[in-house]
Amino acid sequence: MLKGKKILLGITGSIAAYKSIYLVRLLVKSGAEVKIVMTPSSKDFVSTLTLSTLSHHPVLTDLFDEQSWSNHVMLGRWADLIVIAPLSVNTLSKMANGQCDNLLLAVYLSATCPVVVAPAMDEDMWKHPATRENIKKLESFGNKIIPVEKGELASGLYGDGRMAEPEQIVQFITDGFSPEQNKPGALAGKKALVTAGPTYEAIDPVRFIGNHSSGKMGIAIAKELYNRGAEVTLVMGPASVEFSANGIHLIRVVSAEDMFKVCNQVFPRADIAVMSAAVADYTPVKKANQKIKKKEEQFRLELIKTKDILKSLGEKKKKGQVLVGFALETTEEKKHALEKLAKKNADMIILNSLNDAGAGFGHDTNKITIFRKKGRQISFGTKPKEEVAKDIVDTIIRFHYA
Ligand code: CTP
Repeated sequence: MLKGKKILLGITGSIAAYKSIYLVRLLVKSGAEVKIVMTPSSKDFVSTLTLSTLSHHPVLTDLFDEQSWSNHVMLGRWADLIVIAPLSVNTLSKMANGQCDNLLLAVYLSATCPVVVAPAMDEDMWKHPATRENIKKLESFGNKIIPVEKGELASGLYGDGRMAEPEQIVQFITDGFSPEQNKPGALAGKKALVTAGPTYEAIDPVRFIGNHSSGKMGIAIAKELYNRGAEVTLVMGPASVEFSANGIHLIRVVSAEDMFKVCNQVFPRADIAVMSAAVADYTPVKKANQKIKKKEEQFRLELIKTKDILKSLGEKKKKGQVLVGFALETTEEKKHALEKLAKKNADMIILNSLNDAGAGFGHDTNKITIFRKKGRQISFGTKPKEEVAKDIVDTIIRFHYA
């Protein structure tokens, strides 16, 4: 994939630097030649010995040794691509302002090749107007920004700012080198939003209400939309399956409220939205700050309805946007599916009945019926979830983009 490509990896002082070790391994495995330049503070987070061993090159850190002049200019010229991952808020600010107080910044300023950065910081820093300004500046220089992910942060808080996973960074780089891989399909130029997995509703710091959704169906749909050329954002709850984003913009969330917020932010720019997540319908009224001790013989948990994401998007839906929902039913399947289609203002409802063998949670297969407006319906046989995803995307294209 990256055979023969010369990649200069810059590592800066961020806790996410531990992911750089795996990133180097993946880049080398993909056939790239990797040289590493570290900022002085990044050495507190990962060892140069590990990185030099994995990259098969000495790791460079100093600007002021006797070879420094040739180092930065020649390194900048040597590389086909500079990747800075993680990019700390401090280095971002220096890059945006042309500062040059370490070797990595000197290489960056003298480089003639493309530059890709993967920021990593706490949410408050990420959202600060100064950071937003600096990111805009880097974009205006032609540098490419790999989007941050939402998730648990080094501070212990939860939010935006996590560095993209190494697999995602490698995919971003690979796509950049071979744009023909993003083969324009029927959905080229379209933006899609997909939800997947369960949501967890906290009861106290150690307990939650969840469900058995694996996220497999939503992941398969996201991949299929991407294969047809769409730009895909996948909003995924705490699903158990492994997922390497491969060009898909992955946003991880935990609760129904988190998923609601992210979807409402993304939806206005989406052409297609497929809500396949098994969102909790109820959440505890009170979330205890401390672990609840077992005192009483009986314990009552008061629950309140979560916001219905699909319904809220249905209310905001504009002409040209395609909204697809799921229904998992056990009785009067067709009636309930059609009610959901109308109530949530969806264009399609995909029904999977728990009465069908091989359908629903946990299985690698599914059996669906797609309901459209005016009672139109198409039924499919039991198939692997990847094939089901193809049927769903085919149906979207057939009725909205053919
Ligand atoms: N859904 C959602 N937000 C919620 C609950 C559900 O977006 N808070 C979406 C699901 O992702 C799915 C569809 O709504 O696409 C159907 O979900 P389901 O839970 O089956 O339907 P409900 O309307 O909640 O009805 P019921 O629980 O009675 O089946």
